[in-house]
Amino acid sequence: MKPAGEELPTGFVGRSPRIAQIRGLIERIGPGRMPVLIQGESGTGKEVAARSLYNAAPTGAFVPIDCGSMVGPLMESELFGHTRNAFTGAGEAKRGLLELAHGGTAFFDEIGDLAAELQVKLLRVLQEKEFRPVGSLQRMKVDVRIIAATHRNLEREVKAGRFREDLFHRLNVIRVTLPPLRERKEDVPLLIDRFLQASGRRYLLTPELSQALTSYDWPGNIRELKNCLDRMMAFNSGPLLHFADLPTQVINHIRATNEPHLAMAAAAGGGSVLPTAPIVPLHLVERGAIKSALDNLKWDRTEAAIQLGIGRTTLYRKIKEYQLAQD
Ligand SMILES: Nc1ncnc2c1ncn2[C@@H]1O[C@H](COP(=O)(O)OP(=O)(O)OP(=O)(O)O)[C@@H](O)[C@H]1O
Ligand SMILES: [Mg+2]
Repeated sequence: MKPAGEELPTGFVGRSPRIAQIRGLIERIGPGRMPVLIQGESGTGKEVAARSLYNAAPTGAFVPIDCGSMVGPLMESELFGHTRNAFTGAGEAKRGLLELAHGGTAFFDEIGDLAAELQVKLLRVLQEKEFRPVGSLQRMKVDVRIIAATHRNLEREVKAGRFREDLFHRLNVIRVTLPPLRERKEDVPLLIDRFLQASGRRYLLTPELSQALTSYDWPGNIRELKNCLDRMMAFNSGPLLHFADLPTQVINHIRATNEPHLAMAAAAGGGSVLPTAPIVPLHLVERGAIKSALDNLKWDRTEAAIQLGIGRTTLYRKIKEYQLAQD
């Protein structure tokens, strides 16, 4: 169980001051109907934040609308629906995403990628609170709360003429900016706990591993951290997670770091090599050394066997035994 105040029911975890502030904002503005614009790098939790806003007082449905995928001749009918036989191949009448969101929340994900034609139409929906399904002569009233998210800098998109300024101002009523994970490292251990717990199994990390995970900058943010842990758990049947199973980009970063004992652990590719660190079973050290040799040598097994000072057959056996795999 997390201490109260570090998590929302949707799993919006974090204890850093910036996340605590955003959580407070979500709790305050969530129940309202004002438009919210969520900005943040890829993987920072924009969708989690949007769902948390909705969950603060859920009314109607939460309808995600993937703006980047709405392209081509059917995009308008996807958003607004269409009447029976509105166009060739239309068939029966179909309700659009906006109608499904009536009384609830429409989440325009990656709004910066919305096609220019739809930008105009969405603006009209925001201004007039009504729209016309494709093929229909009648306008429909619609009451939706709009939450939009983007990894782009929308001001810059407006300046570059790729995003309508009037639409931007309509959406930018309340702004939530999610910080990248590298600017709130204190949340990393909390997130790790959360992802390991969610697996339903018990896992342990060596101190070097926890430190390495915190020291890495996570350019792909929470999504990258989650993928990394999922991968490490998939490689392990036992409870102890290995340094050697870290993705190559993380190991390379640690190798380049100035923290000597992490760099040493990375060089050994496995458990701890420090006299002060907890004692690590020998097979974990061996596993790490083999994995690191193979990765360094682009999985040239013959060369790895020579450099490790073991026979090729032994190396093959150990690769199998330790379930090592190429990244
Ligand atoms: N504060 C958080 N607490 C716990 N998990 C989180 C948090 N924020 C994000 N996550 C998890 O991180 C992953 C990425 O989150 P999400 O999809 O919301 O990010 P995003 O900003 O929409 O990313 P993208 O730009 O890739 O669409 C998801 O697996 C999500 O569950
Ligand atoms: Mg997203």
